[in-house]
Amino acid sequence: MSTFLWGTATAAYQIEGAVTEDGRGPSIWDTFTHEPGRIRDGHTGDVACDHYHRTAEDIALMSGLGVNAYRFSLSWPRVLPAGTGPINPRGLAFYDRLVDDLLAAGITPVPTLFHWDLPQPLQDRGGWLNRDTSAAFADYAGAVAARLADRVETWITLNEPFVHMAFGYALGLHAPGQTLLLDALPAAHHQLLGHGLATLALRAAGARKVLISNNLTPVWPASADPADLAAADAYDTLHNRLFNDPILTGAYPDLSAFGKDAPGDDLDVISTPIDGLGVNYYNPTRIAAPTEPGFPFSDAGVQGYPVTAFGWPVVPDGLRELLTGLKDRYGERLPPLYITENGCSQPDTVGPDGTVHDPERIAFLDGHLKAVQRARDEGVDVRGYFVWSLLDNFEWAEGYNQRFGLVHVDFATLRRTPKSSYHWFKAHLGQT
Ligand code: FCB
Repeated sequence: MSTFLWGTATAAYQIEGAVTEDGRGPSIWDTFTHEPGRIRDGHTGDVACDHYHRTAEDIALMSGLGVNAYRFSLSWPRVLPAGTGPINPRGLAFYDRLVDDLLAAGITPVPTLFHWDLPQPLQDRGGWLNRDTSAAFADYAGAVAARLADRVETWITLNEPFVHMAFGYALGLHAPGQTLLLDALPAAHHQLLGHGLATLALRAAGARKVLISNNLTPVWPASADPADLAAADAYDTLHNRLFNDPILTGAYPDLSAFGKDAPGDDLDVISTPIDGLGVNYYNPTRIAAPTEPGFPFSDAGVQGYPVTAFGWPVVPDGLRELLTGLKDRYGERLPPLYITENGCSQPDTVGPDGTVHDPERIAFLDGHLKAVQRARDEGVDVRGYFVWSLLDNFEWAEGYNQRFGLVHVDFATLRRTPKSSYHWFKAHLGQT
């Protein structure tokens, strides 16, 4: 009987800062954030939450919260400044200490190897459009696991390859800022191949459990009109199936709606068995027939629900629908599920009495935890739940303007203040 993992999640570029310290090399997010006009208010991750220098304080916050797990990501350019080649000992030592300190606090470390901060030298050679990046990723995974797998049991290869492909390569909203539209698809295949090769490398180095974290969404057709149904099916293919099917079934979904042939090679590597599927859930998506050329669908917007500060609809039952839908679709092929991200941004401020009241986040978490319980009652094997996020942090294109933390961060002073949701989560975790 494995212990249910209760945790919080973060990512290196969003919290660490210290971008030029101890031999770290540049990442695509350093490049992108320093280009004018890319990020709201010109924010960068140069300092972020300064977690690099405040790990003890942040681990103490997790201990106070009572969680038994922590999902964080390793900065690839901190470990391998050039992306390939020699390890930067001081970079790897940071994560080595983090793992030890977490274990000493009774917290299971769950590292993600790639949360979007590709070393810039690899981007200069095409990034994930270049097949060599897949092999470089596996070499990096193997090198990290050779050092940490004696203490780290559970590993996550990639974070949200869909979002990285769509926002980074197709639409240009995230680093590396390319606008290739459907020509971004090779970035999917090479990430999936990288995942498969890294899974093999991790196991060879002693890793016991390997997961991938996919951003998944229930897709709702805007109407029963066949054109809307076909559009919803195409969107489901691109967002969900493109990143689940090759891994779980060894075959790509039909990509003909996109005018593309699915790659026929590498599927034996990509479908290397995994020990769990990480599910990052934020909201459902409502899809209608296309209104303009480019993609075979259009976003019709989900109406009639409360929204977060980001404007994302709050639909807790969408998580139950997603989880049971995965079980229906993949059956015996579905490994145990871990909710590796779930949370919401709210316009949190520190009140005159020094506290931060975020009742909307409490309602959000309550609703979603109940949805997880309903899915478990319906027979879905869910083994973990990680709130996004421990801290308010650098929210990509939105800079510091969207706050997702259980802990408020004042970005002028870097002072941390646990919100009401922190206290609520502490009292409620373990009850599901
Ligand atoms: C996810 C990302 C994570 C965070 C949340 C809000 O797509 O994985 O880094 O930005 O969204």
